Amino acid sequence: MKKKLFITRKFPAHIVEPLEEFYDIEQWQEEDIVIPREKLLAAVADCEVLWVTIADQVDEELLLHAPNLKLVTNLAVGFNNIDVVALRKRGIMATNTPGVLTNTTADLVFGLLLATARRIPESERYLRDGKWQSWYPMQLVGKDVSGATIGIIGMGRIGQAVARRAKGFDMKVIYHNRRRRHEAEEMYGFRYAPLEDLLKQSDFVVIMTPFNSDTVGLIGAKELAMMQEDAVLINASRGGIIDETALYDTLKNGKLWAAGLDVFEYEPISMDHPILTLPNVVALPHIGSASLKTRTAMLTLNVNAITAYGQGKAVSNRID
Ligand code: DGY
Repeated sequence: MKKKLFITRKFPAHIVEPLEEFYDIEQWQEEDIVIPREKLLAAVADCEVLWVTIADQVDEELLLHAPNLKLVTNLAVGFNNIDVVALRKRGIMATNTPGVLTNTTADLVFGLLLATARRIPESERYLRDGKWQSWYPMQLVGKDVSGATIGIIGMGRIGQAVARRAKGFDMKVIYHNRRRRHEAEEMYGFRYAPLEDLLKQSDFVVIMTPFNSDTVGLIGAKELAMMQEDAVLINASRGGIIDETALYDTLKNGKLWAAGLDVFEYEPISMDHPILTLPNVVALPHIGSASLKTRTAMLTLNVNAITAYGQGKAVSNRID
């Protein structure tokens, strides 16, 4: 008898179909709507493998509804939507998608950095709104990226890819991380700094650290107050790392130049969230890894894990 696989989104048929060799597949039939929680809880009742996105919470409650579950595959490198401790207690494996989205996400971070520094979305709105009457010297002036200091919080794969891009812009790179990255320091001249120093010294602060109990609310009112008034804050990791209310107040009071946000505490962000009223906020719908090549690579890593499990082989990209 085939194992039961439940997929919480409609993924491309050519990606899913090869799995039919090993699995009875059930799939939520919407591409862009999250499966309602009660439907998900019912769907996992007899499934052995569960393929989820970051919008699905795999927690104690779900596990109580899923007595046969053996493998959870997450279409993301970040796995804050999965209670890995609860899974481990039950001997359930989990996998993610490391490595394949590094460059794509780092590119997007740089896009956000340039967009905020040079006020690109605001300038485009200005033009489309018919406000461009003439050229004048101080029109829509921004901040230089070249030669500025970038402070990267979280120097994992993506943080380091951002840092390498920064070198290409002649930026001075400082970073904060749980572990020193001696090799990157020697190879590229990146400099380690305690968080407080990084916040004080950086023209651009980029958050790339994973979201967990150590980093929830890491950047609050106190940390924002340490930043320079003309600094830019970029977040392409997880929204909960920044206190959004404090960020709104800081920006509103002119104590920060701008923020570039690809992630929010609650996603999708509510359209009446006050942060969206600020012209110096560039807000994106969590598209860090959204290139066709990278999303396909992420799906493929998940397929490989699910296939290996179906064949009784070792499963790679396990979250430990
Ligand atoms: C990840 O992989 O964690 C991203 O945030 C989703 O693409």
